[in-house]
Amino acid sequence: MKLSTLIISTTLLGAVAWAQTLTIKQEGIGYIKMLGGTLKSELQAKMKEDPTGITAAKFCKERASSITKEINAKLPEYASVRRTALKIRNKDNKADATDDKVMNAYIKAIEEKKYSPKDAIKVVEEGGITRIYKPLFVQKACLKCHGTSVSPKIITLIKEGYPDDKAIDLFEGDLRGVIVAEIKKH
Ligand code: HEC
Repeated sequence: MKLSTLIISTTLLGAVAWAQTLTIKQEGIGYIKMLGGTLKSELQAKMKEDPTGITAAKFCKERASSITKEINAKLPEYASVRRTALKIRNKDNKADATDDKVMNAYIKAIEEKKYSPKDAIKVVEEGGITRIYKPLFVQKACLKCHGTSVSPKIITLIKEGYPDDKAIDLFEGDLRGVIVAEIKKH
C-alpha cells in the first residue's frame, strides 16, 4: 500500500470511529434525558401540589426506582440508564469503581476551577461498554430533601426508608451525583 493511501485510510478509519463515538454519545444523552426528564417533571409536579415536599419525598421513595426500571424496559436490550452518587441515599444506587473515578474527576475539576458545563458529558469505554455520564448538581429545589435544614417530617420519612442515608447536608452547587447511560457493543 502506498504511504498516501495508508494515511488516507487511517484518517478515514479514525473519522469513522470518531463518528461512531459521537453517535453513541448522542444515543446515551437521549436515554439520560428520558430518565432525568421524567423524574424532574414528576418531582416538580409533586412539589407544586404540596410545597412542604412531603408528597414529593414519598413519591421519590416509592417511585424513583420503579420509574427507572420502567424506562429501562423501554430501551433496546443493549442499553441501560441509572442514577448514582458518591453519597447515596438508596443503596441500590451504589456507585462502582468507574462511577467513583468519574465523579471524583468532576469534583477535582470544580475545585481547580477547570469545570466547564459545555464539556460536562463524559464518555468512558470499558470492556465493550460505552458509558455516558451527566453530572447532577444540587440546586435550590433539591435542598428540601438533600440540604442542611430538611423538615423533621421529611427527615423521618427518609430515615425510615434509608437508615444509612448519606445524601443529606449538601449545599447548592455540590455534585449530587450522575445519570449514567451504558451502551453495549452490538
Ligand atoms: C422531595 C424530596 C427530594 C427532593 C426535592 C430531591 N430528592 Fe433526590 N432523592 C430523594 C429520595 C427519597 C431519593 C431516594 C430514591 C430511591 O429510593 O431511589 C433520592 C435519590 C436521589 C438520587 C439517586 C442516588 C441516591 O442517592 O440514591 C439522585 C442522583 C438525586 N436524588 C438527586 C436529586 C437532585 C439533583 C435533586 C434536585 C434537582 C433532588 N434529588 C431533589 C428525595 C428528594
